[in-house]
Amino acid sequence: MLSIRGISKSFGALQALKDVSFEVKQGQIHGVIGPNGSGKTTLFNCISGHLRPESGAVLLGERVITGLAPHAIANLGVRRTFQAGKVVNSLTVLENVMAGVFEFRGRDYWETFFRLPGRRSRREKEIEERARESLAAVGLEKDSERLGVDLVWAQRQFVQIARAMVARPRVMLLDEPNSGMGARDTERIEEVIRAVRDLGITVVVISHDVRMLMGLSDWVTVLNFGRTIAAGRPEAVQKDPQVLEAYLGAE
Ligand SMILES: Nc1ncnc2c1ncn2[C@@H]1O[C@H](COP(=O)(O)OP(=O)(O)OP(=O)(O)O)[C@@H](O)[C@H]1O
Ligand SMILES: [Mg+2]
Repeated sequence: MLSIRGISKSFGALQALKDVSFEVKQGQIHGVIGPNGSGKTTLFNCISGHLRPESGAVLLGERVITGLAPHAIANLGVRRTFQAGKVVNSLTVLENVMAGVFEFRGRDYWETFFRLPGRRSRREKEIEERARESLAAVGLEKDSERLGVDLVWAQRQFVQIARAMVARPRVMLLDEPNSGMGARDTERIEEVIRAVRDLGITVVVISHDVRMLMGLSDWVTVLNFGRTIAAGRPEAVQKDPQVLEAYLGAE
């Protein structure tokens, strides 16, 4: 479904990714782990078009998507969430999710769109229905009229997932969806991620939470200093000496 082939990316003298390659199979949950600064978010940015790698390619199915703009990649069916929990503060939860149906655009566009009178077309009502379904899937159906600004950290992550889900993507990239969350919200995140997978959406998930990631993933890729140091089924990766030394041993 998604092929990462020899991706390298530097920031000045710092090489954040060095020849990273792996395959994400359709319908799977693919976990990416690695210590702080190991290049996980940079990898997502290279997939989503927010950064352009110096070398290597990303393929969606047979199609090379490297070098395309973020909105073009989003429109091909690759949707993502951000580690910092991006939502538009001045829009409601429902509006934030509805905005996910369309191609990626700046927040100013959405603020104008939702404030324009007479824009409530039939298409928009359909999108609203879908957005409400996505909100129900993440357990936020009762919060649809709240403003983005009033959401707490965990809710922002759930809104982002609903926003990605509403577009019915082929691939969803989740960057630390449970960072800073307690055990209860983490359990809900796990349920939501499995539900997304069960909709037929391929999921790539980054997390610091080794326990969650190992329990959730069909396949795991481990990054350390921008390199892939291990890849495989969670049971195998957990026993890999390099992984134990680089990451799990430090837990
Ligand atoms: N835009 C940028 N400019 C300069 N350096 C960057 C930039 N983005 C990332 N880096 C550096 O690249 C390295 C990899 O960063 P990245 O954010 O990909 O790591 P990460 O694995 O996501 O870390 P974390 O677990 O903290 O989220 C880090 O050393 C980081 O400081
Ligand atoms: Mg990161």
